[in-house]
Order: sequence, then structure tokens, then C-alpha cells
Amino acid sequence: MCGIFGIVVDKEQSLGSILTDAGRRLSYRGYDSVGCATLRADGVIDLRKDVGKVDAVAARHRFDEMRGTRGIVQLRWATFGAPSPVNAQPHLDSDGDLVGAHNGNIVNHVELRAQFIAEGLSVRSTNDGESCVHAVERYVARGENIVDAIRRAYRDLEGDYAFVIGRVGEEKLYAIKKGSGLVAGMGEGFTCVSSDLPSILPLTRRIVRVNDGEIIALDANRIELRRVDDGSVIAREPEIVTASMDAAIKGGYPHFMLKEIHEQPRLAGELLHLLEAAPHATKMIARMKRARHLYLVGCGTSYHACMLGAIYLARLAGRAAIPILAPQFIAQYGGALSADDVGVFVSQSGETKDVLNAIQVAQARGMGVQGLVNVLGSSLMHASECYLPLGCGYEISVPATKTFMNQALTFLFLALKMGNHSTDVLARLPDLLEQTIATTEPQVALLESALVTADDLYCLGYGLTYPIALEGALKLKEVTYTHCEGMLSTEFKHGPLSAVGEGYPVLFVAGPEDTPLLVSGINETTCRGARSIALGEEDARLRANAHDLIVLPNSGALINPLLATIPLQLLAYRLSVARGYDPDFPRNLSKTLTVD
Ligand code: M6R
Repeated sequence: MCGIFGIVVDKEQSLGSILTDAGRRLSYRGYDSVGCATLRADGVIDLRKDVGKVDAVAARHRFDEMRGTRGIVQLRWATFGAPSPVNAQPHLDSDGDLVGAHNGNIVNHVELRAQFIAEGLSVRSTNDGESCVHAVERYVARGENIVDAIRRAYRDLEGDYAFVIGRVGEEKLYAIKKGSGLVAGMGEGFTCVSSDLPSILPLTRRIVRVNDGEIIALDANRIELRRVDDGSVIAREPEIVTASMDAAIKGGYPHFMLKEIHEQPRLAGELLHLLEAAPHATKMIARMKRARHLYLVGCGTSYHACMLGAIYLARLAGRAAIPILAPQFIAQYGGALSADDVGVFVSQSGETKDVLNAIQVAQARGMGVQGLVNVLGSSLMHASECYLPLGCGYEISVPATKTFMNQALTFLFLALKMGNHSTDVLARLPDLLEQTIATTEPQVALLESALVTADDLYCLGYGLTYPIALEGALKLKEVTYTHCEGMLSTEFKHGPLSAVGEGYPVLFVAGPEDTPLLVSGINETTCRGARSIALGEEDARLRANAHDLIVLPNSGALINPLLATIPLQLLAYRLSVARGYDPDFPRNLSKTLTVD
């Protein structure tokens, strides 16, 4: 997830260390390259950028020498265009008098690039951030003032983004917000703007919030906000932010896990834009279609996404796929793999040793290797002939939440496309996820006191909700340190039912198509004294038979599993905190498992 920061000061001075510090404070968002630009009083733009970590790039390119009255730093997390010096941001316009950088995704940048080239503009990179600069340049070249040029660029640039831009010969920086974060700060003799608060708070606590559809013009002593649609000025007073740095990084949430759960609606929306524009998706589908055997390989949460992916692919595209845990893939299929087979290897970190071992075996057999990966530049990304980014930004909390959502959503998208179905059904997903968080959070809270002392519970699902039950159980045991087993609901009667006694908690994840079957399972446990807790759409049968019903918004069988994930994540989170644990860093676990 990229980050931008810009500053305007009242007289030319050394800006390198301020920009490097701001870059360090944006770095928790995750990135692969770094760039700095300063605009000097003599009309020169000093631009230095490269692939690597902030301190290494700053040292290699001597950021400490950079002076100016305005400066921009950008940390890039590659989505469009490989990590490389030319794709690193900021970018210059054709004649080098505009410089800008963005955060987010310009989903129509391929079309825009073609237009810019046809208009004779110098396009140097394959990065979508460069489109922001040329989109302004084309209107400046037609005689528009810079604010109007930015307003027109806003209409041309599709996607969710924020960008900051400066021009030689002016004393200001300008920034615009459409879907990605943007806040501004006012200090003594300077103003600044950033993707988020942590890079601003050490400089000033006088903050001006920027909303979508607003342009902000910064000069050293003043901030002016305007509406994009009619150019009118907006009066907004700065507010004093008293939050600690830690709270600012957590976006006001007490833990990263809760923040990341709440990020899911927005990130799902961004991923959908990304997938619609990703040429790799079509390539990947073609390769998956041709495969003799198709394996979906991962560990932990990523494996659960593979399980759900296999159901989506069979159901929507008639394509059989084998979901398998990475070490077992080697043990079970290692001897039977061939060059006609394809594996989709799924890993948030892209560094899980079990997954990399499986890839080694696959490659030795000449098998096709494809990746779904969140950390770009990771080993999985490099090993994949073709990969799709999950677009979640940095997932800091050890329990995977938002990356599971986007892994599952990617599989649903691929399955719909492979089966030649419209993907319109997914357009409602961000709103449904938002609604699910809002409506299930209070319902989950009501269960906390009943479950906080339970040291043993089951989480059952069937069909499309079976992987969700496994994922819910994994989340619960990971952050509450209790035993929670996920299972196919129909298997419960084949053994575990004997554990059930008075008050024994059993969660049932009920998909709309399988409610009658789940109701049977509920009755088998309740008549033996269990406390059955159902998660499903409003349904008289679930309400009549279960002790508790966590109601999910109506969404249909395909989307329901994605929604059902949320109350389980929230339940795990709440029980962890109620037990006095830190859900972000559960004992004994690590975010990236680079060991066998
Ligand atoms: O980075 P990966 O997706 O390859 O990680 C795989 C598992 O270690 C991971 O999903 C783990 O199960 C999570 N911490 C569960 O929340």
C-alpha cells in the first residue's frame, strides 16, 4: 500500500531529512521502492528514487543533500508495473516542470497511457502514478490553471487514489483525494499533506481532514480546500489531534486486528477494481483452464481460501481443482506431477517455507506455477509465471483477516470469469461487508460473556461454509489460546458429538442453501444440552432451533461465506481481548513462517 507525503516551507532549506523521516513513518504500510523530489527556488526539480528500503535508498541517493521550498516523498507498493527505479515515484511530466506522486490505483491507466503517448507526451514508466502527472499536464498544456487542470484530471483518472503534485515557478503543492486516505497539517512556517497521520504528527498536531472529491492547495502559511465538482472554496478549520503515535498508526482502533477487519469493505472494493484491470487475471484463467490437474496450495488461512476457491471453481466454471496443504501436496502428489499440471500457490507473505518447498517440487516437475500474493517482491511473486496481487497493503496483525477476504474474493472473481459469468454480482460486496460489520459487531458482543470462559468449542459448516468454519476455528484458537475445532457439520455425529454436555458451545455457519441440513445438526447437539450458536441469514428455522442466531445480511449462497467470515473474526478478536491477550501478537506464533 503506497504512501505519499508533501511539505511546503516558507524559505528554501534542506528538506532531505524531513522527507526521509516522513518516509520512515509511512513505511509500516509496506513498500518496495522510495522516491523524493524537491522543488528549488531556482526552478530546478531534484528527483531521486530507487528500489529498496527508505534508509538504504536515502543513503545511496544522498537525500540529505536535497534542498527546496517544497518536497514530496513517496513509498511505492507495486501493483501496476514491476518494482524498478523508473517505476518508483514521484514522476515528472514531459518537460520536467510538474512533479507528482500518488497512492492507490488508477485502474484505467493502460488506456490513459495510450492516450498520452498519442498526444505526444513523454511516458517513461509502466506505473499508474505517472498517469496522474500527465493527466494534469495535458490540461495545463491546453492553458488551464493548475487547479482546473487537476479538477479535469480527477474526472479522467478512474480508481481509488490520492495524489500530490507541484509545479516549477509556483509556491504551492496541490493534492486531491478520491477513495484513498489524505490528511493535511499546519505548522509554524510550513504546511504538509500525507496519506495518513503518523507522518504528520511529529511535525504538527493542527490537522485538516480532506474528503473525497476535494482539492487542497498548500502554501507555507495557508491551506485552501476546494470542491472538485464546481471549484468552490470550502471553509474548514484545523482540528487539534491529541492521539498518541501508536493510536494514529492503528487508525484509532485499539488493535491492528480490529483495524484490519474494518478495512475489509474498502479493500474488497479496491481489489475488484484491480482485478477488472489486471491483464494477468485473463492469462491465469487461460492457464488454469488448460491444466490437466489444477492444485490450489497454501497453509493455514491461505489454505482455507484455497478450499473455498475449489468450491467456487467447480460450481461456477465446472473446473475441478484440488485444494491441498503445501507439505501434503509434496507428500501426496509430488510423484504424480507433470508439465501439464498447474498450481495456484496462495500466500499472504509469499515467504512461507512450506509453500516455497512445494513450489520447488512443482518446478522440478515442470509444472505451471501461479501465485496469489499480498507481499509484492516476495519469493512467491518471483517464482510465479503469473501472479495476482491481493492489494491489502501491509497486514500487521498475526491473524490473517483482510488477506483471507481478498484471497477468497480473488477465487470467486476467477471462477466467475472462467465460467463466463458476469462479475456484476460482486459490485454489492463492499456495501454488504460494511453492513455485516455494523450489524454483527453488537450481536457478537452479546455472546462474549457466555463464551469467554469456554475452553473447548466446535465450529461447523457445510458445503460453501465448511472452509469458513475451519477458518473461524483457526482464528478462535489462534488468538484465544483455547481449543476450537472446525469440522464438516455432518461429521460431528461420527464422533465428536460424544463430547457434548450441558452448555457445550457449538457454532454453526449456515449457508442459505444448506439451512435444513444445519438445522438437523443443531438439533442433534441441542437435545444433548449444547449451546448452539448459528450464523446465517434471518431464517425462522434457525431462530427456532438454535439458542442464538447471528444474523447476516441476505446476499445469496456465493457471497454468504465471505460475510460469515466477519462475525467469526470479530468473535475471536473480542474473546482474545476479554481474556486479556494481545490478538495482534499471539504467543508462539509469527506472521511469516520461514521454517519447516
Ligand atoms: O503468509 P501465508 O499466507 O503463507 O501464511 C500461512 C499461515 O501461516 C497463516 O495463514 C496463518 O495460518 C495465519 N496466522 C492464520 O491467521
